[in-house]
Amino acid sequence: MYEIVQKQEMAKGTIIRFDINASKIAAKIKPGQFVIVRVNETGERIPLTVADVDRLGGTITIIFQVVGKSTALMSSLNTGEFLKDVVGPLGKETPITKLGTIIVVGGGTGIAILHHLTKALKEAGNFIIGIIGAREKEMLILEEEMRLLCDELIVTTDDGSYGMRGFVTQPLEKYLGERNDIKEVYAIGPIIMMKNICNLTKKYNIKTMVSLNPIMIDGTGMCGVCRITVGNKTKFCCVDGPDFDGHEVDFEELEKRNSMYLKEEKDALLFSIK
Ligand code: NAD
Ligand code: FES
Repeated sequence: MYEIVQKQEMAKGTIIRFDINASKIAAKIKPGQFVIVRVNETGERIPLTVADVDRLGGTITIIFQVVGKSTALMSSLNTGEFLKDVVGPLGKETPITKLGTIIVVGGGTGIAILHHLTKALKEAGNFIIGIIGAREKEMLILEEEMRLLCDELIVTTDDGSYGMRGFVTQPLEKYLGERNDIKEVYAIGPIIMMKNICNLTKKYNIKTMVSLNPIMIDGTGMCGVCRITVGNKTKFCCVDGPDFDGHEVDFEELEKRNSMYLKEEKDALLFSIK
C-alpha cells in the first residue's frame, strides 16, 4: 500500500497532484520513466510518468487529469489514504547531456512530465527556453516551478486569457526562425501538439524528442498493446520508450490506436457516476 502524503487540486479540480510515499521508487526513478498505479485490487492499471521526485523524503509526484472511470476514482482519494499498487520505475530514462540551448515545450498535463525532465536538463548545465501552454489560464499548471528552471519562459493560452494567445507552436516557430543556436527540442503534450511541433522542427532539421502515451496494460513489454511505429519499425512504448525521436514517429497510427476505446471509456465513466 502506498500512502498519499499530499493531495492538491489543480486546474479547477480537473487535474490532481499526489505526492506518494514510495521510497524504493524515489531512490531509482529518472526523468522520462513512469509508474503503473492501481487504486484497488480490481482497479485498472494506470500508467503515469512521474512529475517530480523527493529522494530524501522518499516521495514521488504524479499529476493526472480526470478523464475516465479510473482517474475519477483515483481523484476521490485524499491525503492520508492509500493506493493499492505503485509499480516502477518502468520504461527508459531520457538521456540527459549538456547540449547548449534547448527548447522544452509542454502542453496541458504534459507540463507535469516536462517539469521533471527540465530539472535534469538544467542540472546538466543547459540554457533552457521553456514554452508552456494551456487552453485557458485556469488550466495552466506548474508555471512558477517552470519559471524557476527555465532561463526564458513563454506562456500561451488558446483563448488569450493569460500570456500569449494561441498554441505553443506559435512562439516555437518564432524562436526557430530567429535563433540558430537551438540544439534540441523536447515536446510533451497532446499527440496533435507533438505532431505539429515535429513537422515544424523537421523544417529546421532540429532533433525533437517526444514522450508518447499509447494505451498500456502490463507496462513490461508482454501484452503488445502499446505497439507504435518509429522509423518504420515496431516498438513497444513501455520498454523501448516512452521517449522517441519525434521525426521518426508515426503519429497518425498512434492517434488511431489511442481513440479505439473512447466510447467504452466514456460509457464506463457515465456508468460509474450513475
Ligand atoms: P489541451 O488539448 O488542453 O492542449 C494543451 C496545449 O497543447 C494547448 O494549449 C496548445 O498550446 C497545445 N496544442 C493543442 N492542440 C494543438 C495543435 N493542434 N497544434 C499545436 N499545439 C496544440 O491538452 P490537454 O487536454 O491537457 O491534453 C490532454 C492530452 O494530452 C491527453 O490526450 C493526454 O493523454 C495527453 N498527455 C500526453 C502526455 C505525454 O506523455 N505525451 C502526458 C500527459 C498528457
Ligand atoms: Fe504491454 Fe507495453 S504495455 S507491451
